[in-house]
Amino acid sequence: MARHIVARTTEIPPGGNKVVDIAGRDIVVFHINGEFFALLNRCPHEGAPLEKAACVARLTSPEPGVYQRSRVGEMLRCAWHGWEFDMRNGQSWFDPKRVKIRSYPVAVERGEELQKGPYVAETFPVHVEDSYVIVEV
Ligand code: FES
Repeated sequence: MARHIVARTTEIPPGGNKVVDIAGRDIVVFHINGEFFALLNRCPHEGAPLEKAACVARLTSPEPGVYQRSRVGEMLRCAWHGWEFDMRNGQSWFDPKRVKIRSYPVAVERGEELQKGPYVAETFPVHVEDSYVIVEV
């Protein structure tokens, strides 16, 4: 897998997303609860763009009439027909045995750690004020 710098962390607001083209693939990067998640921007049902999906919570019920929300914002609900997917691994909660979105590893690294060249020039103090989001495809 190759590593691709797709954005500064500050470019994708909490709860928001950014669509990027990586090697001809339409990939959507979400920023949820301080983490970044990268998924193919295509619902495996009928192809809706997942950038339009709602970021919802996982809802479970230990007994009738009792509902619990967890992992708030980490579940994607497709805008077209409402199928739900786990943002962390692309797994469907509509048909968990058969359907999954392609997901990609994401890392956040400080700009100064990304690339080092063979030559060393005179340096001056620099302050890094934000970080970059890296997606592996
Ligand atoms: S296209 Fe996503 S649920 Fe149908």
